[in-house]
Amino acid sequence: MARWRISILISILTIRVAAALAGGDPSIPHLEQRGQATQLIVDGQPWLIRGGELNNSAATDAQYLNTVWPQLTQLNLNTVLVGIGWGWIEPAEGRFDFTVVDRVLAGARKNQQRVVFLWFGSWKNGVSTFAPTWVKADSTRFPRVRVQSGDAIEMLSPLSAETLGVETRAYVRFLEHLKSVDPQRTVLMIQLENEVGINSDSRDRSAPADRAFEQPVPAGLMQMLGQHTATLEPDLRRAWVAAGGKNEGNWSAVFGKGLVSDELFMAWTYGRYMGQLAAAGKAVYPLPIFTNSWLARPGTLPGDYPSGGPQVPNLDVWKAAAPAIDLNCPDISVANFAEIVSAFHRPDNPLFVPEGLGIASGVANAFYAVGAQRGLGYSVFGIDNTVRLIMFPPVMGAQPPQDLAALPLARGYAVLRELAPMILEHQASGAIDAAWLNAGHPSQEITLGGYQIRVDLRRTFWDQKTVTDLGYAIIMSGGENEFYIVGADVQVTFQPQSTGPSIAGLADDEAGHFVNGQWVVDRRLNGDDVMLNYKLADQARLRLSGSGARFGPEGPTVQRVKLYRYDP
Ligand code: DGJ
Repeated sequence: MARWRISILISILTIRVAAALAGGDPSIPHLEQRGQATQLIVDGQPWLIRGGELNNSAATDAQYLNTVWPQLTQLNLNTVLVGIGWGWIEPAEGRFDFTVVDRVLAGARKNQQRVVFLWFGSWKNGVSTFAPTWVKADSTRFPRVRVQSGDAIEMLSPLSAETLGVETRAYVRFLEHLKSVDPQRTVLMIQLENEVGINSDSRDRSAPADRAFEQPVPAGLMQMLGQHTATLEPDLRRAWVAAGGKNEGNWSAVFGKGLVSDELFMAWTYGRYMGQLAAAGKAVYPLPIFTNSWLARPGTLPGDYPSGGPQVPNLDVWKAAAPAIDLNCPDISVANFAEIVSAFHRPDNPLFVPEGLGIASGVANAFYAVGAQRGLGYSVFGIDNTVRLIMFPPVMGAQPPQDLAALPLARGYAVLRELAPMILEHQASGAIDAAWLNAGHPSQEITLGGYQIRVDLRRTFWDQKTVTDLGYAIIMSGGENEFYIVGADVQVTFQPQSTGPSIAGLADDEAGHFVNGQWVVDRRLNGDDVMLNYKLADQARLRLSGSGARFGPEGPTVQRVKLYRYDP
């Protein structure tokens, strides 16, 4: 298609966005601010994603998929993330084939799963392998990124209007197809591309990229810097201020010469490209759109990780460049999960983790994301490779687990399913928090429902020094002096914060579960099940009773704790 026709096509599609966004059809899955949380609304109700992402090429393999669906059920998932390659649906220019998409939808419906599609378009992990061969093979029409050596690499340049035009046409066709074949609303959201950014260099050094880099920083970005100076991500603000806090100039003038300005330039460039793609898609079918990010590891430089991706230091730039993208999400397989998710969760960026761990610490991550950061949910990467649910990184040749329902992930997702209505309600009211503990962070204080609540790694009362090495809990205030706690390998004590008697004792501690929203008591816990410390005089001095709620390794389990108060 001629370049001018592609540009017109993009403009028309972009204009249609405003109309589509203004009067949305509420039956389409969408994000909604409910009280203190932004939630994903599905069939009119908030939805908590108990997710897993299939390996990259799984959707193309019909036989394999048939073996995967029952596993997802055993693991208690409600949402599966599935990659769709642009090359699979547009094998020849303008000829579309949605067999792969329809197969996933049919399987998901039969197995009571919802779907998040990952649009592997121009970039997957920054690289362009999923683009159709007719695109990859024509690097004159679809220019590539060039790196410092002058070599072109297998990455499409995000500066090409031609590439954006043809990808927009394909992506829009994909969404038109979803709109027409999915009145059931099986598809909940779309991830746009995958872990974008420049690999092996800090920026694209093709001739158009060099020219754009010498141009003034776009007005939209300069305005954002001026309007949000006080709340800018610290790294961005530091770079801007260090270069003199200018109101105009080219990238090196405004952000300083070097890697930082290279990366911010790429963030803006990818953001603009993908923001236009997202807007064109929303104009036909306004599903929520998110990106995912390959996180920079400490000590690495832009280009060691994809430079310009939607990482925390680049989030303000992405927000300004791509208002049609609803959230930018982290892929997390490292230990400092809590730190990362709290940085990604901002008022303008609700939290979702599309790629996380599936071992026990991953379950702790899932609980933390939804309990402490009001997350839309959690998804385990490579869910169809079940070895990843017992070890990470997976060891070659390791035997997959036999009993999926007994795995930590299946148990954790079962409890999240049971508690989802309560968790979502408490996300909105704000009466919820969570703790995530390990050897380096063995204790956490939470203020909730008029109490200072201390969550510690579980220990035994005959050995106060030995603790477990991983523990987690979600705590929800259930009313006056009452809490629902779901946790594993932790112990929880309470100290009143309001005026009145200064020690909280356990009035009742029930282990139980919910059936259709009703609390059902399984066991009334007392004695050894709640005794934490027999040194009662020491405990009284600390304004503690010596008892508390204890959660074992078999969990996560749920307890309802009622407190009474007395003076020492
Ligand atoms: C991150 C990518 O986003 C995934 O698609 C996948 O390739 C994993 N890395 C591999 O662990």
